Amino acid sequence: MALLDLQDLQKSYGALAVTQNFSLTVEAGDLVGILGPNGAGKTTLFNQITGTVRPDHGAVWFDGENVTQLDASRRCQRGIARSFQVPHPFVGMTVYENILVGATFGRSTFDPRKLALDVMDKTGMGAKANKLAGSLTLLDRKRLEMARALAADPKLLLLDEIAGGLTDSECISLLDTIRDVHAAGVTIIWIEHVVHALMSVAKRLVVVDFGRKVTEGDPAEVMASPEVKSIYMGEDAHG
Ligand SMILES: Nc1ncnc2c1ncn2[C@@H]1O[C@H](COP(=O)(O)OP(=O)(O)OP(=O)(O)O)[C@@H](O)[C@H]1O
Ligand SMILES: [Mg+2]
Repeated sequence: MALLDLQDLQKSYGALAVTQNFSLTVEAGDLVGILGPNGAGKTTLFNQITGTVRPDHGAVWFDGENVTQLDASRRCQRGIARSFQVPHPFVGMTVYENILVGATFGRSTFDPRKLALDVMDKTGMGAKANKLAGSLTLLDRKRLEMARALAADPKLLLLDEIAGGLTDSECISLLDTIRDVHAAGVTIIWIEHVVHALMSVAKRLVVVDFGRKVTEGDPAEVMASPEVKSIYMGEDAHG
């Protein structure tokens, strides 16, 4: 049984079809990369998985349960957590307090304070526990996004453009954290424009354009495919 099964999702905003005939299965333990041009509908897919947006048609199955009608907080309790493309922490709260919020409303029944401390260690935020979130650098805001999501003790972690804007060395350090989280048993779907970062950890790539799944498969094969070349380099997919 797949951990996540998206079945023929459709979503439109007025005349704009943002998700079209979108099906995808993700097995437990997978690390899937999603790429595609700006406005392709990638974040909207995450919104439909987490429950902030309902599809017009189709179903979201998670861990053997049809969660299509469940709200975001219930899906979080089932084990789905995400980072946001634009980090928006509670700026007036400390790093620890922000992570504590994630730990309090997540899946785990453990003491949220212990969970928050554990996640701070894992994500390298321990030394910044008492800093106000509003004073953090971009890298630390992105780490905090991940930490807050991890504090919910997810089975499935959705990362939305977590590497964008980072320097090479910051990106390498973030990749190490992502590898550690995955090695600890968390299934990950990662939307990213920084293709080399995605390629270095993803086991499978899914390419989205105009709300549709264009292709999916082995990362190297996907990147070499005519469909992807046509999207990114304007080459004729059939020529
Ligand atoms: N709530 C909304 N109302 C109207 N249009 C929306 C809404 N949310 C998204 N859209 C539109 O849907 C399309 C897909 O947006 P989405 O944010 O999913 O793209 P994306 O692939 O994540 O893009 P990016 O790479 O820039 O983050 C865009 O044209 C966007 O303007
Ligand atoms: Mg997006």
